[in-house]
Amino acid sequence: MQNSTATAAKAVQLIAASERLTLDPFRDVDWSIEVEDDRQYHLPPEKLPLFGTPQWDAMSEAERRTYSRHECAAVCAAGIWFENKLMQIVLRHLATLPVTDPAHRYLLVEVADECRHSTMFGEYIRRAGTPTYAPESGGSGLDAVDDLPGGRAMGYLLILAVEELLDTTNRATMRDESIHPVSRQIAKLHVLEEARHVSFAKTYLTEMWPTLPESERAEAAAIAPFAVDYVARLMVNDDLYAELGIDGGGDAARANPHHQARIVGDLAKLTDFLTKLGVIDDTNRAGWVERGLAA
Ligand SMILES: [Fe+2]
Ligand SMILES: [Fe+2]
Repeated sequence: MQNSTATAAKAVQLIAASERLTLDPFRDVDWSIEVEDDRQYHLPPEKLPLFGTPQWDAMSEAERRTYSRHECAAVCAAGIWFENKLMQIVLRHLATLPVTDPAHRYLLVEVADECRHSTMFGEYIRRAGTPTYAPESGGSGLDAVDDLPGGRAMGYLLILAVEELLDTTNRATMRDESIHPVSRQIAKLHVLEEARHVSFAKTYLTEMWPTLPESERAEAAAIAPFAVDYVARLMVNDDLYAELGIDGGGDAARANPHHQARIVGDLAKLTDFLTKLGVIDDTNRAGWVERGLAA
């Protein structure tokens, strides 16, 4: 195994952190509160893809709150889909590690975290009174990520992209006292536990990226914006607009300058990190900007 001192030390630290704080969604979220209730927003309005569009302006306040419940269920569904894909990347990594490597134990903790998160997201959807939305790509995307140039590093780059993207919405949701309490509790649980996953992925990438051959780094850097774009596009789900009878909702969301700026903002921690790592530099930054992933 290549130089993995920092990753091993981080794994030891994160195992200890997990022992101090691991949450159980069936104990730490109050499911006695009715989820299918539109007296409150389920996500902050400014995090909704239609916010500020003519379709948004045409909705009553009650319709906007209902729409937020559907968007929250769609984000939960995307979360389940992402976590399934990310766990597969982590499990393939685990299969290559000796059991004596601290990362072996830590990555099992991370998979266990994701299993609880997905059961939590599923519980919200089951109680939300919405369809079980799913990303439209059907599920094959991200499956072959380890075969891309950069291999496992590309896998962790995508893990980080998903985690940073969801984290920003989660943080805004947990802090906003006007949001439905179940939605806030889910968001808080996810923020607290995902901080460890983000920390591991960043440490791993910081250590592994410079060890890749230069040609492979160049190829991986060229593919990275396409991969992150794929993930960011899953934040708009056409089925949801069809369900709610909002004509042209998906196209309006994708063309919405507020939504586009939100994606750039939500990815800022990722793009800053990738710039420090050298994945994004002056020669390729324009590609990230063109795809609406960076400013
Ligand atoms: Fe998670
Ligand atoms: Fe995670």
